[in-house]
Amino acid sequence: MKKYRDHYFQKAKQDHYPARSVYKLQEIDRKFSLFRPGQRVLDLGAAPGSWALYAAKRVGPSGRVLAVDRQMVDKDWPQQVEFCQADVLEPGAELLSGLEAMAPFDVLVSDLAPKTTGIKLRDQTLSYELTRAAFDFCPKSLASGGKFVAKVFDGPDVQELLAAMRQEFAKVRGFKPKSSRQESKESFLLGLGFRARTRNAESEAEGRG
Ligand SMILES: C[S@@+](CC[C@H](N)C(=O)[O-])C[C@H]1O[C@@H](n2cnc3c(N)ncnc32)[C@H](O)[C@@H]1O
Repeated sequence: MKKYRDHYFQKAKQDHYPARSVYKLQEIDRKFSLFRPGQRVLDLGAAPGSWALYAAKRVGPSGRVLAVDRQMVDKDWPQQVEFCQADVLEPGAELLSGLEAMAPFDVLVSDLAPKTTGIKLRDQTLSYELTRAAFDFCPKSLASGGKFVAKVFDGPDVQELLAAMRQEFAKVRGFKPKSSRQESKESFLLGLGFRARTRNAESEAEGRG
């Protein structure tokens, strides 16, 4: 298992990404074609920055990435990335105005994870709370037809979230990347083809039409 972990760790170093988690997003992107040049991406739980850097590369200089984490990331981001230090469970004025300025997003990705306690049910509950918070950003942030990807620790509440996602997306999938540690309880939920309500449809028409 150590060898397996080291492979992605070393690869991330070689590829100049700060975390091995980038290969999970890459696998999801390759399988579900998440990104295209020019898109807008909201990245929740962005520190230390691998997913935001990967998304920035994929959307290119004409795209935009709003990267959000409660931990500060002090680095030279590519020009298309804006970082906002904020708690997604208590979004403050800075995050709300950042969302307002950049929405609607074509893709919302969440790698949000709690500080684990080692108590299985507690960790599942904390993870679920974050994944649910990420999902709750969809109505105010995601464009019609948009995609949602969120990490979750497998647990009893996941079925309830999948049911809620089925109301909002044309297709809903679960995915466990090969680069995710086998012993990890994490997997990823995907919502494809967001059915935006009138408010988003109107703001899209105004902003992009
Ligand atoms: C697994 S890391 C994300 C790794 C990142 N995707 C990357 O590739 O570099 C999970 C992140 O979730 C963040 N996080 C946890 N709870 C949060 C909250 N309530 N609001 C904002 N960020 C949170 C943590 O600070 C941590 O940086």
